[in-house]
Amino acid sequence: MLGNFVYSNPTKIYFGDEALKGLNQELPKYGKKVMLIYGGGSIKKIGLYDEIIKILKENDKEIIEDPGVMPNPTVDKLYEGCKIAKDNDVDLILAVGGGSVCDYAKAVSASAHCDEDPWNKYFLRMEEVDNRIIPIGCVLTMVGTGSEMNGGSVITNTATKQKIGRVFDENVFPKFSILNPVYTFSVPQYQMVAGFFDIMSHILEQYFSGDDDNTSDYIMEGLIRSLIHSSRIAVKNPKDYEARSNIMWTSTWALNTLVEKGKSEDWMVHMIGQAIGGYTDATHGMTLSAVSMPYYRYIMPYGLHKFKRYAINVWNVNPEGKTDEEIAKEGLDRMEAYMREIGLVMNIRDLGVTEDMLEGIASNTFILTGGYKVLTHEEIIDILKSSM
Ligand code: NZQ
Ligand code: ZN
Repeated sequence: MLGNFVYSNPTKIYFGDEALKGLNQELPKYGKKVMLIYGGGSIKKIGLYDEIIKILKENDKEIIEDPGVMPNPTVDKLYEGCKIAKDNDVDLILAVGGGSVCDYAKAVSASAHCDEDPWNKYFLRMEEVDNRIIPIGCVLTMVGTGSEMNGGSVITNTATKQKIGRVFDENVFPKFSILNPVYTFSVPQYQMVAGFFDIMSHILEQYFSGDDDNTSDYIMEGLIRSLIHSSRIAVKNPKDYEARSNIMWTSTWALNTLVEKGKSEDWMVHMIGQAIGGYTDATHGMTLSAVSMPYYRYIMPYGLHKFKRYAINVWNVNPEGKTDEEIAKEGLDRMEAYMREIGLVMNIRDLGVTEDMLEGIASNTFILTGGYKVLTHEEIIDILKSSM
């Protein structure tokens, strides 16, 4: 049964190969000073930077640049961004890039006018934002995180090796996001498939929880089937617009707060993956792929009915003459074969994890209680060992 909920998502989406025109409709709604946030330079290589500067100038905006957002943005970078935003009293933040750029923009949006250390207040203590929030718009160039239409913001403290994600409320969601699948064509293959698995993981984190019948599970099965189909095409031909556009939209819906409504959720793959990220700075989607199979094989007996359903409805396992365990196991075997086929990292050693890190990674893993099995510290260590 669906639980009670309130649903609202304030992000306006401009989608398609002409989506950038939407910027001309949005910019007049905000003041003169635009803080342009981007990463390490990919937007310059694909010509998007020049296009955006031109549109900002045509709209008579003063541009304050904040480049150099790294994958897995750090708290030190956040402090720099807050200073730039506050000193210049910016009216709008325009984030152009992948999830890291969008996440960082949200953290700056919420933190620039915060009177105390935002890491303590908004990431360690997870307090509600009670200061002025700077509005944000996003132009997305890499898919996977869903950051373009949610309140998620993940920041890494390199000193303490903590990677913490928080979900801001809808005041910090992007006011608008521009989604042109063509911008994603240039994403390197490793990042591209990591993003694909991030999408799958977001769906599975919300799917593998609960015993009830709810609409969300049916939607999620459809989203994953679409992802599996389109990702196979995209791996062979990254410039296939149909596949890339379907994946982009699937990615947004996987984590734009719709399918989580009225149901319980797991999120332990992400908790373990983030703890690994805090130690290694590894690509987010690959931290998830490396631990997923050991994790799901371990919890399968506790949520057998759902793993059986997953095997049949997503992986087309024929249930005839098989026990529930055999069906569920075959589903996970097919998932593993797909993961290897598209080139995902399947163990944490390949991400730079060494034996001496396991205890620290397990200690930095937040243990959540929404999944089929509440893990103990020792069980997390066992899963990490199985992922080596
Ligand atoms: O920095 P540039 O030069 O732009 O290069 C980036 C970066 O090196 C490159 N890239 C992006 N678009 C490109 C491109 N290269 C060529 N052509 C393009 N069009 O890709 C690299 C990775 O970018 P990044 O933004 O780090 O990737 P992603 O979108 O996967 O974001 C990862 C971050 O998002 C967090 C992750 O933890 C990680 O910190 N997450 C955010 C979530 C949310 N907001 O809800 C949820 C997720 O679970 C995730 O935790
Ligand atoms: Zn993720």
